[in-house]
Amino acid sequence: MKILLTGGKGMLGRTLVRELDCFEVVPTDLPEGDITDPAQLDALFKEVKPDTVIHCAAMTAVDKCETEVDLAYKLNAFGSANVAAACFRNHIRLIAISTDYVFDGNLDRPYNEFDTATGGRTVYGKSKFAGEEAIRRHCPDHVICRISWLYGEGGPSFVHTMLALADGSRKELKVVSDQIGNPTSTTAVARQLKNILVNRELAGTFHLTCEGEASWADFAKEIFRLKGLDQKVVPCRTEDFPRPAPRPANSRLDKMMLRLAGLPPMPPWQEALKEFLETL
Ligand SMILES: NC(=O)c1ccc[n+]([C@@H]2O[C@H](COP(=O)([O-])OP(=O)(O)OC[C@H]3O[C@@H](n4cnc5c(N)ncnc54)[C@H](OP(=O)(O)O)[C@@H]3O)[C@@H](O)[C@H]2O)c1
Repeated sequence: MKILLTGGKGMLGRTLVRELDCFEVVPTDLPEGDITDPAQLDALFKEVKPDTVIHCAAMTAVDKCETEVDLAYKLNAFGSANVAAACFRNHIRLIAISTDYVFDGNLDRPYNEFDTATGGRTVYGKSKFAGEEAIRRHCPDHVICRISWLYGEGGPSFVHTMLALADGSRKELKVVSDQIGNPTSTTAVARQLKNILVNRELAGTFHLTCEGEASWADFAKEIFRLKGLDQKVVPCRTEDFPRPAPRPANSRLDKMMLRLAGLPPMPPWQEALKEFLETL
């Protein structure tokens, strides 16, 4: 299988290059693999001739998306539409990465793949949802994989931020405890993507986050516990850390489609975190 990767220099892209070494992976990124340039994309697909595209390229700076609205839609919506149309024209299967931010975060249980997404309350979520819709419209042979609370080699991520803050200079660290989600490693995502890649007949939307849930404060405490760091965490509320883009209170994703398709479950988040911290 020959796979062309968009956003190959990003946090998830780098892990995919490492983990998917049983396939032929061609990573692309700026400047040669600009998803906002349809002609360049088409020429690249014709030259590389992949069977599958994994689409990771995106504008992921959630707060910056609130002020750089055109750029957010250019990358996350227009760019994804270009990738989808080029895949359709060249008979390529598309596996695209999306996010829990497509939901508004108000549900009192984890969101499954059949819950209605609207793009939520942020420009990032709305632009990623517009990208999902373009993929559904332009390329029927697709799998959309929603992930969340992601960390991986090199970062940037919550894990990297917490480890940097726990440098011994702070007696206590205030961390938000009223947002809950599924901390997820890029490695866990990559391993599940392998199953989706080899099951060529699978299509539709899949949630790929680690099992189990945590607040950011729980997540921080587990990072420090596993690293043996004596850093006190003081739970606080979302209002204590006002951000330009409102964060969803509930980011939990139910992996119903993995169960329906008979694919293995994602690992527990604590297990994936332990494995990641051991690599640092
Ligand atoms: N990180 C998370 O917490 C998280 C959570 C949920 C979902 N996701 C989704 O997971 C995917 C991967 O995220 P990530 O964390 O790996 O993101 P990332 O580290 O920001 O990587 C995205 C890559 O895309 C590149 N890119 C930007 N504009 C491009 C363009 N016009 N053409 C081609 N490439 C371009 C970026 O280059 P520059 O760095 O030069 O801009 C970067 O290398 C994204 O679809 C994201 O929405 C991420």
